[in-house]
Amino acid sequence: MGSRLRVVQWTTGKTGTAAVRGMVGHPALEIVGCYAYSPEKVGRDVGELAGIGPIGVTATDDVDALLALRPDCVTYLAYRPDFEHLERILEAGVNVVTTMYMLAGAGYGEEVRDRLAAACERGGASLYTTGVYPGHMGMTALAVSAMCSRIDRISLLESVEMSGYPNERMFRAMSIGLDPADPAAPGMIEANCGSFKEQIRVMAGALAVDLDEIRFTAEFGVANDDLDFGFMKLRKGQIAGFKGVTAGMHRGRSVIECRFVWKLGHDLTPNWPVEDGYVLEIEGSPGVRVQLAPLGGAHFSGAIATAMPAVNAIPHVVAAPPGIVNHTGLPFVTGRHLLTRDQVG
Ligand SMILES: NC(=O)c1ccc[n+]([C@@H]2O[C@H](COP(=O)([O-])OP(=O)(O)OC[C@H]3O[C@@H](n4cnc5c(N)ncnc54)[C@H](OP(=O)(O)O)[C@@H]3O)[C@@H](O)[C@H]2O)c1
Repeated sequence: MGSRLRVVQWTTGKTGTAAVRGMVGHPALEIVGCYAYSPEKVGRDVGELAGIGPIGVTATDDVDALLALRPDCVTYLAYRPDFEHLERILEAGVNVVTTMYMLAGAGYGEEVRDRLAAACERGGASLYTTGVYPGHMGMTALAVSAMCSRIDRISLLESVEMSGYPNERMFRAMSIGLDPADPAAPGMIEANCGSFKEQIRVMAGALAVDLDEIRFTAEFGVANDDLDFGFMKLRKGQIAGFKGVTAGMHRGRSVIECRFVWKLGHDLTPNWPVEDGYVLEIEGSPGVRVQLAPLGGAHFSGAIATAMPAVNAIPHVVAAPPGIVNHTGLPFVTGRHLLTRDQVG
């Protein structure tokens, strides 16, 4: 256990909690510190914040103290990026894994990308972006694409009923709860789907295809009745879901598509069917369809599936050359060590 990589967990929200549970007892990883954004979490044990009992590591908002621990990696799973923090972490030589896929390229603008890339260079550190979708699903599609002799189109779909991911702020930022005629709604959903544009750019780069443009279209579904999810209420007629696509275009044709059907509840108009998982289709030779669905009728845990591609990549990211990397720049990320791990959560 002496050679485990030292990890600082950055925040303990939904994915952060899943990451903590995924790292406690991990044969290759050790949580040595934790950053708390919320003042009430400062001074509390990280295990307790993750609902698994104390692990002897206390959350703090003291960035210098966390960097003084000389961690190998930070699992940066905050709600929104703090670029000043990221810059400090990277230039201190600490690698970062994150589920903010917008950080894969110039998703936050070229100035931010250049600033973070320079911090990576100064510190000799890597910044790795993943997640489930965008993220690991893109990597899965690229793995499957290697079986084809011709590819006409690759499409990914996330099709879920989302009330199991209690994040009212995230849903409202995506326009859920607004009147469908609200002029702000289309822009809000497109802004929140910006990370899919990064996913498409990464996949296009891996497949060596030049894109003319990336298009976004979406339609809204409204609640048929008043709905109460415990963490959030919606009134009849308000936006309760979307169906849409971000499409990478080549010579006027859509060649890489990130699709989504996201619903809060099952009583919407239109009431699109949900797959409760992910569907990957490659049109070409051979045509391929891959469905990732929860086993035994269980519900997909979005938080675990989002956090673990980041956690499981840590050894590769620590070994990677400095810079901003995505799944096309690392060895294949697997669930290494998990078959032998004592399960915590
Ligand atoms: N690629 C994917 O597949 C995928 C899927 C889902 C989510 N995500 C991304 O993963 C990240 C984490 O998602 P999540 O659902 O775990 O987030 P979350 O639970 O809403 O928030 C995570 C933590 O961020 C901190 N925080 C709260 N408000 C903040 C603010 N205004 N600025 C910065 N930090 C703030 C809090 O830290 P404390 O714990 O210290 O209070 C909170 O617990 C988000 O960027 C999300 O977009 C990616």
